[in-house]
Amino acid sequence: MKKSKVVVDKEFILGEVDKRIYGSFIEHLGRAVYEGIYQPESPFADEQGMRRDVIDLIRQLNVPVVRYPGGNFVSGYHWEDGVGEKDKRPSRVDLAWGTIETNQFGLNEFMDWAKKADTQAMMAVNLGTRGIEDARNIVEYCNVPGGTLYSDLRKAHGYDAPHNIKLWCLGNEMDGPWQMGHKTAEEYGRIAAEAGRIMKMTDPSIELVACGSSSYGMNTFGYWEDTVLQECYEQVDYLSLHQYYGNRDNNTPEFLANTVALDQFIASVVSICDGVRARKKQKKYINLSLDEWNVWYHSNEQDKKVERWSKVPHQLEDVYNFEDALLVAGMMITVLRHADRVKVACLAQLVNVIAPIMTSDTGAWKQTIYYPFEMISNYGRGKVLHTLVQAPVYESAHGDAPFLDCVMTMDEEKETVTLFAVNKSLDEDMELTCDLRQFEGYQVKKHVVLTHEDVKAENTEEHPDTVAPQENGKSSVENGTLRAYLPDKSFHMIVLGK
Ligand code: AHR
Repeated sequence: MKKSKVVVDKEFILGEVDKRIYGSFIEHLGRAVYEGIYQPESPFADEQGMRRDVIDLIRQLNVPVVRYPGGNFVSGYHWEDGVGEKDKRPSRVDLAWGTIETNQFGLNEFMDWAKKADTQAMMAVNLGTRGIEDARNIVEYCNVPGGTLYSDLRKAHGYDAPHNIKLWCLGNEMDGPWQMGHKTAEEYGRIAAEAGRIMKMTDPSIELVACGSSSYGMNTFGYWEDTVLQECYEQVDYLSLHQYYGNRDNNTPEFLANTVALDQFIASVVSICDGVRARKKQKKYINLSLDEWNVWYHSNEQDKKVERWSKVPHQLEDVYNFEDALLVAGMMITVLRHADRVKVACLAQLVNVIAPIMTSDTGAWKQTIYYPFEMISNYGRGKVLHTLVQAPVYESAHGDAPFLDCVMTMDEEKETVTLFAVNKSLDEDMELTCDLRQFEGYQVKKHVVLTHEDVKAENTEEHPDTVAPQENGKSSVENGTLRAYLPDKSFHMIVLGK
């Protein structure tokens, strides 16, 4: 049995959890919008065509913010195509994904849907094929109360009150050569600064996210962040980072060691932000928005066969397995361990497209990755404690990888402390201990475990509960010490309270 020790101090707080780290993402891509959140002909649809069964599952996930409408899609998007009378909306080619977009769902429908799903919008503007003027116009349409061309257009479309969208992305993955309107760091930095300045002139209350790197592996990583921030530090509030992982070599220990890579990626972006801050002698800090993250690789081969110019094809429909759920848990733990600087994070995506939720004409179900997200999103609130982890390690491509990913949060209102932990060992159980004498009288209230003997086990519409959490963990507090038993390959949530 492996042994690990976790050390916390109730006064040693890393930071407040910004609830927006439990965000997600809906792009006009595949069946995310159509057949995902919107399907008027479905028996599950409400009077506006929104799928009620999907909304129910999203509300359980407790997602405070959803990024929209892309993704690569946004870099060729005309938001005006998706507002106003539906029968007058044009169909267009979507060059990002090689499909036809009918525009039957657009900005206003998204805002209506967001209310129903109990979430806020994080809106992206097109800085690929469009620019500053369009960025200004969409902010005017959404946030100016009335009496101007675009705000009155919104009213004419039936939305009298402004949408008041607070969080805006200045384009998407502009460092990527695949992106429509791809730019050099210098070009992007300038347009982000000017678009951002004019968007904030239109509504000074908004917050802006500049594009960082599309992944840690980009050749321009580092130079991109530094150069972009040189240009737009004053105008923006967050710098984005995107990261997807895959187990292409079928090497589960390596795959699970990606939490180390994510940790390095986040720490590196923080360093660059602070380096620019120092050079500019700025008071303000730039925080991080990990606004696309997930496992993504299962559907890559299948997607090569998608017919060009099809409507609503099955695209990026990864079927997730148990090891994916373990990595998702580990990635969320890693984000929490950087809660002082990561203020927004979006699981990409939410429905059907690399998603925790899948739909068919007969229902909606939870993929394996749904569960760690649901557990951490609902219980990982309040403050993050500096969590010192002493655990055995194994060698990986990213350096030493601990067998244990772990973080603890403290909810002062509810008087609870919650421990999240992944035992990455594939064949050895682990004993975890933690001195809790500062939390006098705290006992284990709940110990939920997600585990399965087969790391490749999947949930399907026919068998939606193959991988599902059980409240049957073995742990207790005795003489002020928490002692928890973590079977090999398992994710745990231990809630402690009086
Ligand atoms: O989420 C799928 C795609 O991944 C997004 O459109 C893009 O931003 C990223 O490359």
